[in-house]
Amino acid sequence: MTGKIIGTGSYLPELIWDNHKLTEWLDTSDEWIRERTGIGQRHISKELGACGMALEAAKKAMEDAGKAGFKAEDLGAIFVCSVTPDICVPPIACEIQKELGAVNAFCYDINAACSGFVFAYNMAVSYMESGLIKTALIIGSEQLSRIVDWNDRGSSILFGDGAGAVVVTASEEKGAAVMHSDGASGEALQCTTGGKLSMDGQKVFRFALRRVPEVIEELLDKLKMEKGQVDLFLLHQANMRIIEAVIKRLGLDSNKVPTNIERMGNTSSASLPILIDELNRAGELMPGMKMIMAGFGAGLTWGAGYITI
Ligand code: UT7
Repeated sequence: MTGKIIGTGSYLPELIWDNHKLTEWLDTSDEWIRERTGIGQRHISKELGACGMALEAAKKAMEDAGKAGFKAEDLGAIFVCSVTPDICVPPIACEIQKELGAVNAFCYDINAACSGFVFAYNMAVSYMESGLIKTALIIGSEQLSRIVDWNDRGSSILFGDGAGAVVVTASEEKGAAVMHSDGASGEALQCTTGGKLSMDGQKVFRFALRRVPEVIEELLDKLKMEKGQVDLFLLHQANMRIIEAVIKRLGLDSNKVPTNIERMGNTSSASLPILIDELNRAGELMPGMKMIMAGFGAGLTWGAGYITI
C-alpha cells in the first residue's frame, strides 16, 4: 500500500527578505549566498505563527481535495510537523481539527526536524496499512525566523517561513518506507526551547551528501524499482549544492528533480509540502505519477517515502 495525493495547499507570508536585505546587518553578499546555497530570497512571517500558517495551508489543501467531493469529516488523522510550534498544548493538529470540523480525525504533532514531513507521511501510510485510517492531512509549518540567530551568517542565510499541507489517501499500489536517526550526532544542528538555532554547516552538508543518495537507493531497492521508473524525486530544499550533488551521485535527470529553494530558502518540515503544492498548482502532477520524497536534517534524521497521484 502507498499514499496518493488528493489535495494540496500552502501558505507563504507576504513579507520577503531577499539576500540584499540580510546585508543590512550581516557581513555577507547576494553573490556568496547564491553561490553557496542557491537561495535568493525567503518569506518571513511577522504575524502568523506555525499554527496560523498551518491552518491557512490546511484550508487550501481541503478546498483542493473538496473538488473530488472529499470532506473534512472524511479525514482519519491530522499530523502537523514543526520545530517551531507557537503553542505546545493543545497540539496544533487539534487546533486544525477544530477549525476544519474534522470530527473523525485523531490528531497530533510531530517533530522530526526537516525530515518531519517524510516521517509523518510514512507513518500515515503505516496507519493506512494497519486499517486504522484511510486518509490523512499532513502539514509542515515553520516560523524559523523566530529561532534563527540573525547575527550568525553561517546559518541565518538559509532559513525561511511557510507552511504546506497535503491530503493523502490509501492506494493499493505497492509502497515502501525508509527512516533513520543518529542521535549521537545531534549537536550538528540544535536549538534549546526559547533559544537560537546553532549549526555546524559543514557537518550537516557532509551528512546530507552521504545519506540522501543512500536513503533513496535503499527505498528503490525496497520498492524493486529502477530510478528511470520514478517520475519525480522531491528532495528537502536545504541547499542547491546538496540537491545538485545528489543528482550527480545518483545520475538523475535534473528535470525530474524540481526545486524552489531560490525563492523559499530552507523551510524545514514545510519544504516538501510547499514544493508539492507548487507543482500541483502548476499542473505538473499528473495522475499515475510515481514520486520519491527524501528528507534530512536535525536529529540527525533522514528518510525517504514513495507517493503517487
Ligand atoms: O535542513 C538541513 C539544514 N542545514 C543544512 O542543510 C546546512 C548544510 N550546510 C550548508 O548549507 C553550508 O555548509 C553553508 C551554506 C551553511 C555554509 O557553506 P560552506 O560552503 O560550508 O561555508 P563554510 O562554513 O565552509 O565557510 C566558508 C567561508 C568561511 O570563511 P573563511 O573561514 O574561509 O574565511 C566563512 O566564515 O565562508 C564564510 N561564510 C560566509 N561568508 C559570507 C560563512 N557564511 C557566510 C556568509 N557570507 N553568509
